[in-house]
Amino acid sequence: MIVLGIETSCDETSVAVVKDGKKVLSNVVASSLKMHSKHGGVIPEIASRMQLESMAPVFTQAIKKAKIKPKQIDLVCVTCGPGLAGSLLVGISFAKALALSLDKPLLGVNHIKAHVYANILCHNKIKLPAVALVVSGGHTTLFYIKDFLKFEVLGQTRDDACGEAFDKVAKIMGLGYPGGPLIEKLAKDGNKHKIKFACSGTSDEMDFSFSGIKTAVLYYLKGKKIAAGLKKDLAASFQESAINTLMRKSLIACKHKKASSLLIGGGVVANSYLRQRIASGAKKAGINCFFPDINLCMDNAAMVAGLGGYLYKKGLRSDLYLNMEF
Ligand code: KG4
Ligand code: ZN
Repeated sequence: MIVLGIETSCDETSVAVVKDGKKVLSNVVASSLKMHSKHGGVIPEIASRMQLESMAPVFTQAIKKAKIKPKQIDLVCVTCGPGLAGSLLVGISFAKALALSLDKPLLGVNHIKAHVYANILCHNKIKLPAVALVVSGGHTTLFYIKDFLKFEVLGQTRDDACGEAFDKVAKIMGLGYPGGPLIEKLAKDGNKHKIKFACSGTSDEMDFSFSGIKTAVLYYLKGKKIAAGLKKDLAASFQESAINTLMRKSLIACKHKKASSLLIGGGVVANSYLRQRIASGAKKAGINCFFPDINLCMDNAAMVAGLGGYLYKKGLRSDLYLNMEF
């Protein structure tokens, strides 16, 4: 079965072709990120206008790279939420037109669940049930999944998402946008024990809170001149605390659910220190931990096609009334 996936929930325009639920024949991603960096965050109007321009060329490129003809597509899948309304509409409208013109089925896919499914595209030995952690610019959520039809929410952020905290801390430090990769780079040469930052406690131990640590960084810097060395230590200390929290709560969730698999997905998982820390923490706890390949951590359409193909086989369908999901 050949599945075409479309992803336009934030600043990316991505189209992918996935064969037989596993083989990624193409995964083209165009990003408008550079156009947002001077604003310190994604500007929805700029994102959707760029997506309108990119949608058809990215589709053409994905088809060409996969060496298929449009008529070979068996199913069209598209991210239907959560995300920016104008951006989602570009992808959904294109997907509807494509499915209608090819007379092929259409299926709307949840972006957060697709981030978890990215692991299935990359690994063969995943055993379910599992605990899943999605850690992106908009979400920090722990799930329990028996299969990819039902996601039980175990905990989520009460305020900022983890990626959002990386972005805000980077902004406070005058680093630019997106902050995650910039903080990771600086942290490599910093002393992670230099400053003690802690994420705020939450009444439910599987919930998260990242807004307090961002404010702590702001207060720490108040009135100080940020020398290069301090920037590195600050980045390393902040990153350490954020990642420790993600690891600690993921392991609590695994214990709570007696799960031996932990699937992690979302843009922040591109952070190699996070991968290393959580992998070693999980190993010590006897848990098999999985991350998608780096190119499948960030927003991409392959994960949408992958999950869509799975759900279609389970009997799920959308029609031309498909709308955004918040
Ligand atoms: O999943 P994603 O591409 O988009 C959303 O669905 O939100 O995640 C984007 C987020 C941004 O907040 C970005 O700063 C963060 O992922 N990010 C990172 C790294 N690369 C991207 N955070 C920490 N370290 C990284 N290397
Ligand atoms: Zn995402």
